[in-house]
Amino acid sequence: TVNSDYDLSAPIDPNGVGLRQKLPSYGDAHFSLFMRKLFIKALGYSEDALSRPIIGIVNTYSSFNPCHSNIPQLIDAVKRGVQLNGGLAIDFPTISLHESFASPTSMYLRNLMSMDTEEMIQAQPVDAVVLIGGCDKTTPAQLMGGISANKPIIHLVTGPMMPGSHRGVRIGACTDCRNNWAKFRAGAMDIEDIAALNEELAPTGGTCGVMGTASTMACILVALGMMPINGATAPAVSSARLRIAETTGAHALRLAKQQLKPQQILTRESFLNAITVLQAIGGSTNAIVHLLAIVGRHPEVAGTITLKTIDEIGQKTPLLVDLKPSGENYMTDFHNAGGMVALLHQLRPLLHLDQLTVTGQTLGEELSRAAFHPLPEGSPANCIRPLDSPLYPASSLIVFTQGNLAPGGAVMKASASRDRRLLRHAGRAVVFTGSADLARRIDDPDLDVDQGSVLVLQNIGPVGNPGMPEAGLIPIPRKLAERGVTDMLRISDGRMSGTAGGTIVLHVSPEAADPKSVLGIVRDGDVIICDAENRELSVRLGEDEIKARQQERVMSEAERGAVWEARNAVRGYRGLYLREVNQAEKGADFGFLTAAGPGP
Ligand code: FES
Ligand code: MG
Repeated sequence: TVNSDYDLSAPIDPNGVGLRQKLPSYGDAHFSLFMRKLFIKALGYSEDALSRPIIGIVNTYSSFNPCHSNIPQLIDAVKRGVQLNGGLAIDFPTISLHESFASPTSMYLRNLMSMDTEEMIQAQPVDAVVLIGGCDKTTPAQLMGGISANKPIIHLVTGPMMPGSHRGVRIGACTDCRNNWAKFRAGAMDIEDIAALNEELAPTGGTCGVMGTASTMACILVALGMMPINGATAPAVSSARLRIAETTGAHALRLAKQQLKPQQILTRESFLNAITVLQAIGGSTNAIVHLLAIVGRHPEVAGTITLKTIDEIGQKTPLLVDLKPSGENYMTDFHNAGGMVALLHQLRPLLHLDQLTVTGQTLGEELSRAAFHPLPEGSPANCIRPLDSPLYPASSLIVFTQGNLAPGGAVMKASASRDRRLLRHAGRAVVFTGSADLARRIDDPDLDVDQGSVLVLQNIGPVGNPGMPEAGLIPIPRKLAERGVTDMLRISDGRMSGTAGGTIVLHVSPEAADPKSVLGIVRDGDVIICDAENRELSVRLGEDEIKARQQERVMSEAERGAVWEARNAVRGYRGLYLREVNQAEKGADFGFLTAAGPGP
C-alpha cells in the first residue's frame, strides 16, 4: 500500500491532527512531514502510533523539586489513559520551579515558565496537552501559558504531601515551619527540637500540606473548570492520585477530538466561581496575584475582574474550610472530608453552576454526578463547615481600596490574623527600607519599637526586589517576641507565603520603588491607620507633605541611580523582568504577554 503522506498530488492539511500540525518550514510540506516522521521513528514509534491524535504531557519533574517527585508515575498513568482510548501520548519538559530552589524567588521565574509553556505548546504538534504541576508558581504559570497558546489543555496536579509528626503533634509544611521557627527564635524551643522537627515537616513528596498557594491554586483549577472535580486534594502518594491521572489522559483525548480550548471554557463567571472558592477556603494571598495575571491573559475576560471584584465576592462568601493557616487541619483532612466535591455542594447557592468544564459537562452536572459520601453531621473529622455555620463570616481575604497609602490596592488575609484588634489599629511606623535593612535591625535591642508599632517594609515589590519575594511576613522583633508578642500590624509591597499567618498587609501598590509611591515616602514615626472593616489604609500625612517628600526622593534617588531608572541598562532575563513587569493589581505579569499586548 502507498503511504498517502508522500503522495505529492495530495496536499497536506496544515490543521490536520498530530504530526501534520505546524510543520517546520523546510519549504516543502511533504518533505517536512517526511523529516518529522523519520526523526520520531528513531524513538520507536510505528506508523500506526503516529496516525493517532497526539496528547502532549508537560513534564516538570526535577530532582530539585520534591513537590513534583511523583511526576514520573503520573506520566505513566496519563499515558495509560490516553493510549487505552486510542491516542498517542508524548511527554516533553518545561522548566521546573520549586519555592526553595529558585533564587531570588520563584515568582521571578513564573512569567518565564509561562512563556516556556506557551511556546512549547505552540511549537510542537500536539492536539491537546496535560499540564502536570503542583508547586506554587507552576499551576499559574501553566494556565497563563495555556490560555495564551489556546490549544486544548487540562490540568493535573501532583497532590499534597502527607502530614508528619513530632512529639505526638501532627505537623506539616509550611505553616508549622514558620510557627515553630518563631518559637525557636523566641527561645521557647531548643536546638535539638528544631532539628528533629526539620526531619518531619515534609515527610513525603507532594505539595505543601496546608492551604498554601499550591493547594489554593489546585482548588481554584477545579472551580475554573480546568481540572476534574476530584482532582485537587488526593494525596501525592495515594493510588487515587494515579487513577485521577489515568482519567485525565482519557479526558485529554476527548478534549483533543472536540478541540475545546481554554478561552472557550473560561468566562467571567468561571472566574467568579474561582474567587468564591478562594474566599471559602481562606486561600493564599498569592492566588490573588496569580488570578489577576491569568485573567489578564484572556482576551474576553481581561479587565472585567479586578481587585475590587475579589473583595465584593468576599463580602458574600464565608470561610468554610478549617485548614491551616486560617484554621487547624491539613489537606489530607480536607480530602477525607470529601474535598472539593463536598465544598462545592456547600457553596452551590453562591456558584454559577452552568459554567463549562474540561470534561465537556458543566460544573453543576459534574457536581451532581460526582460520588459524594458526606461525613456524619457534627463529625469531629469534618473540616468543612456548612454554609450557615462558617469558621469566619465573610471576607477571609480583603482588599484595601480606601485611604492614601495604597491607591492601587493592597490585600490582607484577615482570617489568618492572630490578634483581631489589629484589624482596626493606628500606630507609629517603624520603617525598614528593604530586606537587608530589616535583617540588620529587626532584632537590635535598641530598635525603637513597641507592640503597637506598625512594621513597614519598603522595596520588596515587583521591581524593587525582582520577583516580589515572600518577605511580607516581617518577623516580630525578638525583644517583643520574648515578651510573648505574637502578632503586630505589618505592611509591605511584597508577598507572603500562603502558609503564613498574622495581621499582614501585602502587595501595596504602587510599590515603594515607584517614584509615585506613597509607601516609599513613609518615615519612622508617621502614624499609619488600618481599618480593615472600611478597607482603609492610610498614613496620616497631608497631600502637600506627600508631594514634597516624593519630590525630594526623586531628586536624591536620581543622583544615585535608583533601581526604577537603572532598569533600562540591565541585561538578560532580569532586564526583561524589570522593564516589563506590571504591578501586583495586574498580576505582576509582563505587559507584552497580556491579552492587551505591549502598552504604548
Ligand atoms: Fe512546593 Fe510548598 S514548596 S508547594
Ligand atoms: Mg509558597
